[in-house]
Amino acid sequence: SDIEKGTYPHFMLKEIDEQPFAMRKIINEYQNENNELKLDADVQMAMKAADRIYIIACGTSYHAGLVGKELIEKLASVPVEVHVASEFSYNIPLLSEKPLFVFISQSGETADSRAVLVKIKEMGYPALTITNVPGSTLSREADYTLNLYAGPEIAVASTKAYTAQIAVLAILAVDTAQAKGLKLDFDPMQELAIVANAMETLTDQKEAMEELVTNYLQAARNAFFIGRSADYHVCMEGALKLKEISYIQAEGFAGGELKHGTIALIEEGTPIIALATQPDVNYAIRGNVQEVIARGANAMIISMKSLEQDTDAFVLPQVHDLLTPLVSVVPLQLLAYYAALHRGCDIDKPRNLAKSVTVE
Ligand code: G6P
Repeated sequence: SDIEKGTYPHFMLKEIDEQPFAMRKIINEYQNENNELKLDADVQMAMKAADRIYIIACGTSYHAGLVGKELIEKLASVPVEVHVASEFSYNIPLLSEKPLFVFISQSGETADSRAVLVKIKEMGYPALTITNVPGSTLSREADYTLNLYAGPEIAVASTKAYTAQIAVLAILAVDTAQAKGLKLDFDPMQELAIVANAMETLTDQKEAMEELVTNYLQAARNAFFIGRSADYHVCMEGALKLKEISYIQAEGFAGGELKHGTIALIEEGTPIIALATQPDVNYAIRGNVQEVIARGANAMIISMKSLEQDTDAFVLPQVHDLLTPLVSVVPLQLLAYYAALHRGCDIDKPRNLAKSVTVE
């Protein structure tokens, strides 16, 4: 059945490997017979009518929302705010005149997100849920649903749902741009197909990842992920993965913010994983890496092919600048996986965590 591990030692590894297939499934599900991008007319109208999008989510889905904000703002020119559900509930920001709420939830059952949905429905606002579980509570109670088509995700630490969420948000952004008559030189289906192939290249490089991690994180007390722009958001997700399953204290930081405090934590040998996928901040993030190396850090750079330098630890196959999170997250997922594996952790069922949290 769909939810057996087969030859895999853990669901998490299986689900990391399923990401290229999930991308291809999304491409198929969201295009018509003429290979044109196609969303429900209702969703398109709701997006077009909104003067501001409020993305509400928790955990990994929140991190996907941060990437989604950039996609929707850059492609569709609609302002987007991203909120942690449990914060939004108790501290509702000043809302725009015509908000549309977008709930991102793998399970569709997260109580913190549902509390916001109930509240904004009482206030009379429209809601769209992006979920991996059709028929889930958040899907039923929202006006509209977009499915992730990632297949069941069993491991507590979310992997393929994160990349599926970003892919669907990219499609939503382009659909909205088209509805608004904006001209784009970005074909999401073509670019996502390139992403699927890139992901496959990366999941074929597991051994290289395992080797990298064994020396690097085996004895680590803590680890920091640094990046700028889109890379910063992926760093937050990379750090969350590492925390969740290996119990190594980890944080994702904005490269430029290091000097304003965090750099005080750097000691001899502190592992720093830097992402360099964005041309416009490539020089700046590499400067940050030099700063931490000068203070004794054990830094590794994961870069995009077009920005590759000799000393980079790992190079990602080239994808469109807007979609780099879909590939840069894969080595970070594998890094967390192998770190946890070599530390003997219970990868699919980490302590204190639940797959879906149905209490506020
Ligand atoms: C739990 C899980 C996380 C997940 C979060 C949100 O905390 O352990 O992996 O990201 O809930 O879940 P959702 O189903 O709403 O995406």
